[in-house]
Amino acid sequence: MPKLAIYPGSFDPVTNGHVDIIVRGLKIFDHIIVCILNNPAKKVLFTVEERMDMLASSLNGLKNIEIASFDGLLVDYAVQRQANAILRGMRAVSDFEYEFQMALMNRRLNRNIQTVFLMTGLRWIFTSSSIIKEAARFGGNINGMVPKIVQRNLKQKFSTPDT
Ligand code: COA
Repeated sequence: MPKLAIYPGSFDPVTNGHVDIIVRGLKIFDHIIVCILNNPAKKVLFTVEERMDMLASSLNGLKNIEIASFDGLLVDYAVQRQANAILRGMRAVSDFEYEFQMALMNRRLNRNIQTVFLMTGLRWIFTSSSIIKEAARFGGNINGMVPKIVQRNLKQKFSTPDT
């Protein structure tokens, strides 16, 4: 049976840290579905369609990847897609409690789905979509932290229209 994982997240927007997890995840799983889900605690900058486009363009060229979105519980989506696992990246220690809580809740909701954690690459330990958005908002240099298309879209979002 092929090993299929869901890599869920807000991806608002996708960063090079996410791409790193996906590339490394492909060494473990036969197929990865990168799925945009709703985190009710977050106010997002990009629409689901914009986020999907950025993911598709950033992962262009990678085989055995699918981009999706789902409005509902992650474990329900995993069942629907017959996925064996949820893939998550773990950054600094500060991620641990939140990730642990989410993995245990998902396990309680469905014991057949395993959460697999990959340590985030050292280069990306202290990056996050929010901190990148903040830097971009004030014109900071985010070169190398996000795919080119994300850099362009952030610049566009934060550019002040001419009056
Ligand atoms: N490199 C860089 N940054 C990374 C990273 C990596 N490898 N991995 C995670 N991050 C950052 C993200 O950029 C994001 O930054 P932000 O908080 O500034 O936006 C942060 O870590 C965590 O984001 P993400 O991995 O996208 O997860 P999330 O917490 O936004 O989303 C969901 C969590 C969407 C998966 C979760 O809310 C969910 O499953 N929702 C559906 C409902 C559900 O089933 N809930 C769970 C059970 S009740």
